[in-house]
Formats: sequence, structure tokens, C-alpha cells
Amino acid sequence: MAKRSYPDLHEHLDALKRLGLLQVIDRAIDKDSELHPLVRWQFVGGMAEADRKAFLFTNITDGRGRRYDIPVVVGALAANRAIYSAGMGVPLDEIQTRWDSAIADPIRPRVVANAVCQEVVVKGAALHGDGKGLDALPIPISTPGFDSAPTLTATNVITRDPETGVQNMGTYRAALKAPDRLVVRMATRVGGAGGYLHYQKYQERGDKNMPCAIVLGCPPCVAFMGPQKLPIGVDEIGVAGGLAGGPINLVRGKTVDLKVPAEAEIVIEGLIDTEHVEPEAPFGESHGHVALEEFNMPMRVTAITRRRNPIIPSYISQVAPSESSVIKRVAYEPLFLSHLRSTLGIRGVKRVALHEPLTGLLRVTTIIVEKGTPRTEIWRALYGVAYFKGDCGKICVAVNDDIDPENADALLWAMAYRMNPVEDVQSLAHRGQGHGPKREHGQEEDSTLLMDATMKSDMPPLALPKKEYMDRAKAIWQELGLPALRPQPPWFGYSLGDWLPQWDEAAKRAVEGRYLENGRRSQKQQRKGLKPETKFRPE
Ligand SMILES: Cc1cc2nc3c(=O)[nH]c(=O)nc-3n(C[C@H](O)[C@H](O)[C@H](O)COP(=O)(O)O)c2cc1C
Repeated sequence: MAKRSYPDLHEHLDALKRLGLLQVIDRAIDKDSELHPLVRWQFVGGMAEADRKAFLFTNITDGRGRRYDIPVVVGALAANRAIYSAGMGVPLDEIQTRWDSAIADPIRPRVVANAVCQEVVVKGAALHGDGKGLDALPIPISTPGFDSAPTLTATNVITRDPETGVQNMGTYRAALKAPDRLVVRMATRVGGAGGYLHYQKYQERGDKNMPCAIVLGCPPCVAFMGPQKLPIGVDEIGVAGGLAGGPINLVRGKTVDLKVPAEAEIVIEGLIDTEHVEPEAPFGESHGHVALEEFNMPMRVTAITRRRNPIIPSYISQVAPSESSVIKRVAYEPLFLSHLRSTLGIRGVKRVALHEPLTGLLRVTTIIVEKGTPRTEIWRALYGVAYFKGDCGKICVAVNDDIDPENADALLWAMAYRMNPVEDVQSLAHRGQGHGPKREHGQEEDSTLLMDATMKSDMPPLALPKKEYMDRAKAIWQELGLPALRPQPPWFGYSLGDWLPQWDEAAKRAVEGRYLENGRRSQKQQRKGLKPETKFRPE
């Protein structure tokens, strides 16, 4: 085997095991009705993000009671940020730099003659019939009760530009239809799937078939390229090499003229029909609704090549948070920040947060700005995030850095007390519908809502005890053996600018039991003829 600088999926799972991030399930699990719902509980069961794990299922059965000897792993790339960071091989705060340098300095791949992904080759008649071809693979159903087919989700779908020869790799779902046929869904909207642009070129040339390779279980540095948005025409394999710090090994497909990652687990080779389309879905989508049946691209399988001991990955997507939202969030948020700070030069921006639960990153964007950032800069930042990506930023809110963007209550608090709607809110026309449930009544446009919920001037402190008192009380709480606490920010009071050292001193005297001294001081400030509630500021 050719040497390489990156782990494959097996080595990555070993690393997750060492880090305590892999849950191995050895009992029998039905891939059609139990597998995804079991993993789903870690996203809807009130668990902290840090406690989520990758789930490796070693004993798979299906709705017909069949048994499979190929394991399935869910969440192996991004059940949480720690898992993504393990796959990248860098701490979380270095992920952006790693992406930046990989995009700036891609490393050309190396073509090898022999590859583990072709240890077993199934083609021709061996692909046809029940229990053969695709039907031999334990592909799970993602949303039992709604989905109409087991669907490939953790894919890297490779197609080639018929004019330039440059390959594209995207994560697109594909529904199983027959042992030798599936239907691939590539987004056709502007900014949609790179593979669809190839499909259009094949159609224009009159080619009735587009060669395609659906890769399952790439080495993590390659798998991460699937969902990442890179400029059209950039060969993702070079960028994957940049992530890995060395060339990615590729091997020529057995039946299609495409190069595929040599260390992949399984490669499904085939020809996409550019003439006919076939109904696909319902399928639970990453925008959190079920995509209803629509026509998509049938693919005739020409070969399935695989390792002798493959593992099949499956992404848990649909309603966020999910593996799909984590994998996109970790890659996208730094792109937004760098767009505002580096491209637009807006200094006061500290962070951009794409809201994840239910809204799935696409609809609500929070910009965290330093206190005192000029209003014009805040608005440049709001326009900047609203238009950076066609799919994201329908509702954009700017807040100060004491607001936790993960806490919707805190966001509402900022809007409630720091925003004057007639001055601080704008709605803008002409937004595309983006990724979301299709509207059945025509092609009408969506629009954009921008809100400046930052403080426009100093405000009085948040009325909770100062941190030192809350910390002291927490120690007592624990000493008393009261129920475990999960502090929700804000959990202590802090200054919002409108506060004086004299008041700090008075509060200190009060907690020291010296409030009578405060009384003597205020008595000296008595005045005649003022209306009650008139403001007083000590010298
Ligand atoms: C779990 C998951 C499933 C996805 N499914 C699809 C899909 O079915 N079709 C699609 O066009 N994009 C899908 N995407 C989004 C694309 O992978 C993403 O837009 C990517 O940038 C496409 O690569 P490309 O720009 O090379 O086409 C999915 C992303 C994830 C993380």
C-alpha cells in the first residue's frame, strides 16, 4: 500500500475509541427502524453536546430479519465538535487556519495502482437480484415513518467536468431503488450542487450517461470535503491533501473513468441517466422538514468495489442539531467571521454564530460585536452576513458580547431591552428561498430581516448577585448536597457601563453589614423641591 499522511476511517475510529468518543453497540439493531432513532436520542434527549459520541453498530439486522456482517457507524465525523476536531487532527481553534492553508496550498493527489477500496469487486450479473449488489449493504433508513427508502447519506459523490476534466466531490443523498439502481439528488438551485453543473454539460453534449462514483467511508480529511463549499472548478482532492499535509492516494475506478480515494471503504460506480428522471423521497432533510417526492437522477450501478472488512458510515441529519449541522457549522462559521473581518474589514466583530437547533444554520445568524462599535459598522456587518451566502442569513441580529448566541432567551432579552424597532430593524426584499421546504404556491421570493440589538448607550448592571457571591453560594449548594446545577448564562450580575465606583463601595458596605453608614451618607444628600424618581449621581 502507498504511504500516506492521513488516517483512514478505521484508524479514525480507533482514535475516537481512545478519546472515549466511540460508543460500540453489539446487540442486534434493525437498520430500518431502530438505528437512526437510537442515535437521534443523543440530539433530542437533553444531553450536552460534549457528551455526544459516534455510534458503531456491529450487529445489524433489517426490516426483513436479514443479518449483515458489515458494521455501520453514525456520527463518526461530527456528532460533536470534539469528534470533528479529532478527524481534522487539530484542536478546535485551529480548524479555520487548517482550512485556510489547505485551500491556499492544495497538494496534488497521487494515483496508485492497487487500493484497499478494490479488494472486493462486484460487477455484472453479481449485482442483480435480492440480497445482491446494493441490497447486500446495510444502508439505514434515516427517518423511519417518513422515508421511502434506505438512503446513502455519508457520501462523497464524484463526477468529472466533461470539458475541463476536473473532478467534483459533493455530499449528496442517494436512495436505494434496486440492487443495481439508486436515485441521486443534486440540488439544482443557484449555488447548489457542483455535480449538477456537470450533469447539465453532459446533457448539452448529448451524452446520455454521466459517469459517477459514490464513495462511502473516505478518510476523514477527504470526507470533510463533501459538505464544504469551495469555488466551482476547485478539485477538492487537492484541498484534502492540503488538510492532510500530503498527497491523497487515488485509484482509477474499475468501470468508470474517475479517480476515487484509494482508502475508501466502499465505492459504488455507475452511470447517471441524463435523459430520464425518477421519483425519489420522501426523505427527512437537513432543513428540518421532510422533502416530499420529486424527480431526481437515476444511476445504474456498474460495479461495487470495497474493502474486505468495510464499515459503512451514515450521517444523522434532518432536524438540527445533528451531525450534518455540526459538520457544516464548524466549517462555515469561521468563513463568515473571516468575510466580515478580513474581506469587509469590520474590526468590532468578534464572532458569527449560525443558529443551530431547529433552524439548522440557514435562517438565523447572530453577530457578536464589541461594545462601542460604530453603528455604521454594525450595519455593514448585518448586510455582510445577510448576503455572504444565498442560503443563510434570513434573520440577522447584532448583539454585544455579553449575549450568548446559543441562548435564545438571551437573544430575546437583547431585542427586548436594547432595540428600538423603528430605528434598529430593517427588512429587505429579494431573497431567494434557499434550502428549505418547497413552497407549492409558485416561485415567490423570500426577504431578509436585520436587527441591531446592541446597546446604544451604557445601561445599568444585570440584576443578579456579583460572581463572587454566586460562586460562594454554589459551594454551599454543593456542600448541602442539593441537586446538580447546570449554570445557564447569565448567572451572575455584571456592569453594562452605567455604574459608578461609589455604588460598588456602597454595595460592599451593605454586604459587610454597614448599611447604616450608607443611610448616614444618603441623609446628607436630602434636597427640597425635587420630584420623586429624579436621578441622583454621587460625586
Ligand atoms: C448530510 C448532508 C447531506 C447533504 N445532502 C445533499 C443532497 O442530497 N444534495 C445536495 O445537492 N447537497 C447536499 N448536501 C449539501 C452539499 O454537500 C454541499 O452543498 C456541498 O458543498 C456540495 O458540494 P459541491 O459544491 O461540490 O456540490 C448535503 C450536506 C450534508 C452535510
